[in-house]
Amino acid sequence: MSDLLTIGELARRTGVATSALRFYEERDLIRSERTSAGHRRFARPMIRRVAFIVFAQRVGLNLEEIGQELAKLPTDSVPSRNDWSKLSQTWRSRIDERIGELERLRDGLAECIGCGCLSLDRCRYANPGDRAAAYGPGPLFWIRPRRPVG
Ligand code: FES
Repeated sequence: MSDLLTIGELARRTGVATSALRFYEERDLIRSERTSAGHRRFARPMIRRVAFIVFAQRVGLNLEEIGQELAKLPTDSVPSRNDWSKLSQTWRSRIDERIGELERLRDGLAECIGCGCLSLDRCRYANPGDRAAAYGPGPLFWIRPRRPVG
């Protein structure tokens, strides 16, 4: 198994388009070396960085935030498990927050979400007279953990 991958091989293994990989490289999120003919060659550990970028975006981080996290990894050596675990420490609260959001979304689908529509039978108990409006715009019970209003 080669330690250096072409951009096509990296794209196939990660499922990310070569255009996106070039974009990540432009943003210094991943790095490659060049052959004498100028072709990119990516060290195999770049696969993990690309996987990190893709998944971080799925949990709602933007490329700037991802870049700040990846910048904490060593550049002169392959990041160790310990290096990666340092990242997760700052991320844990962000991921927990996201899990909470997804749980509220899942649990709120058949419940009143405090949005002001008053269209469900539950709204008269969970959000009488749309009292949730006093807490600001948007679906109150999706935005933050549920508790009765009024
Ligand atoms: S679902 Fe909209 S106010 Fe209850």
